[in-house]
Amino acid sequence: MIGEHSLTPADFDRLAEILRREVGIELGETKQSLLLARLGSLMRTLGMDSYGQLADAIDQDPGGPLMLELVNRLSTNHTYFNREERHFLFLRESLLPFWRQQMLRGERKRFRIWSAACSTGEETYNIAMTIADETDLRGSCRVLGTDISSGAIEKARRGTYTPQALAKLSPSWRERYVRDVATGGEIVPQIREMVVFRRMNLIRERFPFRNSFDLVFCRNVLIYFHEELRARVVENLVRSVEPGGYLVVGHSETVDRNRFGLSYVQPGIYKVTGQLSGRTAR
Ligand SMILES: C[S@@+](CC[C@H](N)C(=O)[O-])C[C@H]1O[C@@H](n2cnc3c(N)ncnc32)[C@H](O)[C@@H]1O
Repeated sequence: MIGEHSLTPADFDRLAEILRREVGIELGETKQSLLLARLGSLMRTLGMDSYGQLADAIDQDPGGPLMLELVNRLSTNHTYFNREERHFLFLRESLLPFWRQQMLRGERKRFRIWSAACSTGEETYNIAMTIADETDLRGSCRVLGTDISSGAIEKARRGTYTPQALAKLSPSWRERYVRDVATGGEIVPQIREMVVFRRMNLIRERFPFRNSFDLVFCRNVLIYFHEELRARVVENLVRSVEPGGYLVVGHSETVDRNRFGLSYVQPGIYKVTGQLSGRTAR
């Protein structure tokens, strides 16, 4: 037993089941100590006697504040600037020049990018900085960042990072896109205006978008879902990409390209051919 409350196997199973059902995250049988470490202070604050009581309270109000707190505490928000940098290079070197040409020919007016499961926003700001480097394209795109964790989304909206986190950015990006504040560095307004953050659960049945995206990043979250759920999320992601657009997943994540009408481009990068459910490619 760690902390003041013991965790019975039955209570662990209930909390793990709540997390699986509501968020898709698999806790795994070895995660008892993680749960104790992350929920111990919550139990003390709430003055609850057992984890079963916590599970009861969440079951009575599944979308309520305790559920949010559970997700905030148990989701793994690990991320950093320039993670899997090749994906941003692909955007810079292949997609932006292609979209620019299309715009010059009058074939498109703008492009839409979604950074799904963006955690605390580093990935989303990375995308915005890559676009902002191309001064003529700055005004052509708004980047949407979403995550299930309200705590992560709040931090992303604040746009303030520690010097250690910012050290992953190149010196020229730090100089142009970060300004000093007492707590570290803050992303400059010019970049913040290009992004918008929302809380969103990826395992919902349908995504709430009217328009589809030209590029979707969904990196390092699919690994937390069981196989069937992963397939459903990938299918929804693919449906939210324009035919001819791109889906980017983490380097260690694989997707079944035949099943979802994708063609392989580079590690983690897939082109949406539009063959899922009879869509036609552009
Ligand atoms: C490891 S981080 C990945 C962050 C970033 N995409 C990256 O690659 O660095 C995983 C994120 O997925 C989020 N997440 C987990 N389950 C989710 C769900 N069902 N819907 C949306 N986001 C989810 C977590 O809150 C966490 O911020």
